[in-house]
Amino acid sequence: MPQTIDFVIKGRRVYTPDGFMPLAVGAQDEKIVTITGLENAPRGREEYDAGDNPVLPGIIDPHTHMREPGYTRREDWTNGTRAAAAGGVTCVLEQPNSVPPVNCAENFRLKREIASAKAVVDFGLLGGAGEGTIHQMAEQAAEGAVAFKTYLWSYPDRSDEFDGIHTIDDGVLYQIFEQAADLGLPSCVHAENYRLVRTFSNRMLQEGRRAPIDHQKGRPVVAEVEAAWRAMIIARETGVQLNLLHISSGSAATAVKAWRGMGGQGVTVETCPTYLTLTEERLNEIGPYAKINPPLRSAEEQEILWDRIADGTIDTIGTDHAPHEFEAKEKGWRDIFAAPAGAPGVETSLRVMLTHVNAGRLSLERLVELMSVNVARVYGLYPRKGAIAVGSDADFVVVDLERRERIDPKRLHVKDPRVARIFEGFEAVGAPILTVVRGKPVMRDGEVIGEPGYGGFISRQN
Ligand code: NCD
Ligand code: ZN
Repeated sequence: MPQTIDFVIKGRRVYTPDGFMPLAVGAQDEKIVTITGLENAPRGREEYDAGDNPVLPGIIDPHTHMREPGYTRREDWTNGTRAAAAGGVTCVLEQPNSVPPVNCAENFRLKREIASAKAVVDFGLLGGAGEGTIHQMAEQAAEGAVAFKTYLWSYPDRSDEFDGIHTIDDGVLYQIFEQAADLGLPSCVHAENYRLVRTFSNRMLQEGRRAPIDHQKGRPVVAEVEAAWRAMIIARETGVQLNLLHISSGSAATAVKAWRGMGGQGVTVETCPTYLTLTEERLNEIGPYAKINPPLRSAEEQEILWDRIADGTIDTIGTDHAPHEFEAKEKGWRDIFAAPAGAPGVETSLRVMLTHVNAGRLSLERLVELMSVNVARVYGLYPRKGAIAVGSDADFVVVDLERRERIDPKRLHVKDPRVARIFEGFEAVGAPILTVVRGKPVMRDGEVIGEPGYGGFISRQN
């Protein structure tokens, strides 16, 4: 090892799988090369002393929609990954609904090239699988997809984004799972039953109900619970690793627990800070800006979701960072069904979850599991990502657990702060103060200093 290495980070509370410890971690050529006690700390060309502030492995957000190629008025790769860096996120995993949708090798490469030129933090890409594209799954795996994504719900008015990445046909779903299992990749689903959602939302429309809260009523919990069960049952037949994304209801998370209790293996489950923090009441407060799919639920459902965090059922937390244009969202005040679903989240997730840590809802160790370690494991990136260990990428986030700040959309990096209202006014306690990607600080004291193009493509192989 050279006498002076690239980067050294020290702290009295550095995360390890055995608890927080006083350690010095040294990085050379983007990797962690040494971990020592503080008294033996190596010298670095750049050094950071975190003092008593916890040093965590970089947060990995497994659920972003960066909108590029396609709708760059909503978001783009530079902007969205600057927001990630500001939020303590060192790697994002991107969903396939861009324009063109990622559902073949060519579209996969297009997104990879754009993101490689523009990203500030590392990124991986999900391939898309759906009606008519099963024969294009293998080529996406060969390009380096971390997983596949299939929408069991289809967005009829957004076919430019969702073509070939959705199905409501269980036979097609079975074949997608079979193929993903063959390719050795996890299959992720958006679990809402299309026909149930159509039935309930049509009922709303027929009754002339178009208020914000009617969004939740049009997509009831049963639609998610049914889709989750169905996906688990079909997945088991194929041996695929099924990953249920953005589970919003405690009832659906409890279905996973029950399934595992029946011996059902091979299923993992993601939820989002939104579902753990906000309820359907938020639709009454900020209208279309709280419209997300699946919708925000009742306080009772949220309590059960927390039980599933506590008992280990839930594996990962992603944000579903999904910005839209202001003008499109505004339409939802008069008719909630006319506005698109989705809200930004990549920049606020760690702050929101640290607030829950401070409130005693979960431990900091559990937060690290949910937002980093388990994400890397589910997507086959461990231990390159999600670990502070020799040989891992030198990705860190330092958090100040005491920093108090109300979330103010105007201070966020999202493309249009006017649509970033979902956590507006939330009293956050705890914030990231340093984000390091492969040995290089990309955010310091809230200021993003990473360069577009520094972020690299991550696959299971590299
Ligand atoms: C997502 C979007 O806008 O891309 N919106 C959302 O409400 N979650 C699509 C999706 O993930 O379903
Ligand atoms: Zn979704």
